[in-house]
Formats: sequence, structure tokens, C-alpha cells
Amino acid sequence: MSYRTDLSLIAIEGIVFIVGDLILIFFLIGGGRETKCAIAAFDQDTSWDYILYVQHWPITVCMQWMAKSPDNNCTIPLNYQWTVHGSWPTKIGTDGPQYCNSTWHFNKTEIEPIESELEQYWTNIQANTGLESFWEYEWKKHGTCALNLKTLDTEFNYFNEAVTWAKNYSIGDILGLHGIHPDGSAYSIQQIHDAIKSTLGVNPVIECVVHGKPKMSLLSEIRLCFNKTLNLIDCDIDKMHYLFLDEYLYDLEDGQILTDCSLKRPIMYFGEIPHFERSIRDEELEERQKYLTQMGQLYQFLQFLIWLTL
Ligand SMILES: *[C@@H]1O[C@H](CO)[C@@H](O)[C@H](O)[C@H]1NC(C)=O
Ligand SMILES: *[C@@H]1O[C@H](CO)[C@@H](O)[C@H](O)[C@H]1NC(C)=O
Ligand SMILES: *[C@@H]1O[C@H](CO)[C@@H](O)[C@H](O)[C@H]1NC(C)=O
Ligand SMILES: *[C@@H]1O[C@H](CO)[C@@H](O)[C@H](O)[C@H]1NC(C)=O
Ligand SMILES: *[C@@H]1O[C@H](CO)[C@@H](O)[C@H](O)[C@H]1NC(C)=O
Repeated sequence: MSYRTDLSLIAIEGIVFIVGDLILIFFLIGGGRETKCAIAAFDQDTSWDYILYVQHWPITVCMQWMAKSPDNNCTIPLNYQWTVHGSWPTKIGTDGPQYCNSTWHFNKTEIEPIESELEQYWTNIQANTGLESFWEYEWKKHGTCALNLKTLDTEFNYFNEAVTWAKNYSIGDILGLHGIHPDGSAYSIQQIHDAIKSTLGVNPVIECVVHGKPKMSLLSEIRLCFNKTLNLIDCDIDKMHYLFLDEYLYDLEDGQILTDCSLKRPIMYFGEIPHFERSIRDEELEERQKYLTQMGQLYQFLQFLIWLTL
């Protein structure tokens, strides 16, 4: 009897010990993370030097988004234009500041006067994530950092400036002017760079994403730089050296081209989701439907068994 009790006591002690350990480990991992997050989440030094203004190509964004899950769908702006990704106050040599004010919450009412314009020019392409979630995210992460500039010190001003720029610096128009159309053709980095540079007179940053099987390089983003009087300025490698330096190639033909696009692959500029991507997705959805049907049948069969045995 006492032997048994001892054993069960030991067993209970063991369990308590293990559970205690697990709790301790949980706190060490979870707690540690949380502290780190709290430190990283809100920047203390909120000063910055220039604005990195980022427009992206909705078709490319959509292809990536849809590839992540068959549940994902996209909102493509009506006239197929480039849209805003974000407007990021940036300190030279860093990719911050970010999350500058934890108490300044996104307020939908503030941007109501320009909401339809935002939908058009700052579209949330990830349709199934909620209309405003993209704006709210960008506001928290970047918008709250812009307020030390008088011209951008309200939520309305911040978003309105981004829309004004989107209208004035339409990447689609600029590329089109130079014969670069979203028709599924391939273009060179030099062509894209020259189109922007010759029209706006400044160096942009050109971003690609690698996508699909076989791998393609898709034109993804054009980034422009603005100084604190909100004039366009050259983006240059000294300002941007934080950006994965070895990925950024420059000194092509006429000086700097800032890009992460691989020079090994042509840069694709699609005007719609390519047909083969659609069929892959349709197959995935079909597979899932089949699976769900099978699970449904299995469930019915189990119900039947239960009914039989009771
Ligand atoms: C995206 O999917 C959701 C949920 O299935 C649906 O409610 C919504 O209308 C879809 N949006 C678009 C733009 O297709
Ligand atoms: C943060 O936002 C709040 C609310 O809008 C404002 O009162 C406060 O001055 C801001 N803090 C800083 C450091 O800008
Ligand atoms: C949101 O903005 C509106 C319009 O500026 C203002 O009246 C309202 O008080 C704000 N709401 C919050 C929660 O700050
Ligand atoms: C629009 O772009 C032109 C040409 O770059 C520039 O001179 C003008 O200041 C811009 N206007 C606005 C409102 O950004
Ligand atoms: C911003 O750039 C413009 C044009 O190059 C220049 O005239 C202006 O002085 C610059 N402003 C600042 C604050 O550097």
C-alpha cells in the first residue's frame, strides 16, 4: 500500500515537475519573445530623412497572394493601374523608423472624404482581408512616423499626399510612354529604369519577385524617394544601403540602377493572371472539393456505424 502510494506520489510529483518545466519553458520562450517584441515594436528614435514612396503592380501582388492559399482572392483596380503599397518615412541607413506612436489609432472617419480615391489608388489587393486592414496596417507602421513633418501631421494629410502622388506619378503611364506595356512581355531592367529616369529625372528603385514553377521574375514595385519638402529626389545606394546590399545591382551601363531583380531572368510584366496559373488554382480547388466530399461521406458512414451499434 505505502509502496503504491509512494509510486503514485512520485508519478504525481513527476507530472507536476514536467508540467512545471513546460510552463517554465513556455514562459521562457513566450515571455522572451514578448519582451523583444515590445522593444522592437515601437521605435524610440522617430527621426527620418526621406520618404520611400512605393507603388506596386496589382497583377503581380495578386499572383503572389493567390499562390499562398486557394482561399485568397484579389481586388484589382478597375483601370488596371499601379497602386500605392506605402509611403515610408526613412532614416538614412536604416529601414525605420516604424510604429512611432502606439496611442495614435487609425481612424476611419478621418479618411472618409477620400475613401473612394483610396480604394482606387491605394487598393487592398488582398480582397479577403477586409477593405481597411491594409490602410490601418500601413498607418500604424509608417503613417504614425510621418507626423513630425507639418505637411503630413494628420492621418488625412498622410493618406491624401500618397493619393496625390499616385495621380501625379502614375507608373503605368510612365512605362507606357516608353513602350512598356503589361502584355505579358519581358523587359530588361535597363528599359524600365530608363523609362522612369528619363520621365521623372530621378533614380527609382525597381523591385521584382520570383514566382511560380518554372521560376519567373515578375515586375513588382517601383519605389520613388521624396525629401522633406516633398520634392522628388534620387534614390541612391548610400541612402539605401540597408536594403540587402548584394541583391541590389548597380553600375549598369549608365551608372546606378537600384534593383533586386535578377539580371539572369527577363522581367515579366503581366496584364492579367496567366492562364496556366488559373488552371493550377482551379485544380487545387477541385482537389479540395473532392477531399471535403470524401470527408463528408466518411462522416456519414461513421454516423451510420454509431447508429448500427447503439
Ligand atoms: C473574395 O472571397 C470572399 C469570401 O469567399 C468573398 O466574400 C468576396 O466577395 C471575394 N472578393 C472578390 C473581390 O472576389
Ligand atoms: C501620439 O498620438 C497621440 C494621439 O494622437 C498624440 O496626442 C501624441 O502627441 C502623439 N505622441 C507623439 C510622441 O507624437
Ligand atoms: C475620428 O475622427 C473624427 C473626425 O476627425 C473625430 O470626430 C472622431 O472623434 C475620431 N475618433 C476617435 C476615436 O478618435
Ligand atoms: C507633379 O509632378 C510634376 C513633375 O514631376 C511636379 O513638377 C509637380 O510638382 C508635381 N505635383 C504634385 C502635386 O506632386
Ligand atoms: C528637396 O529637393 C528639392 C529639389 O531637389 C530642393 O530644391 C529642396 O531644397 C530639397 N529640400 C530639402 C529639405 O532638402
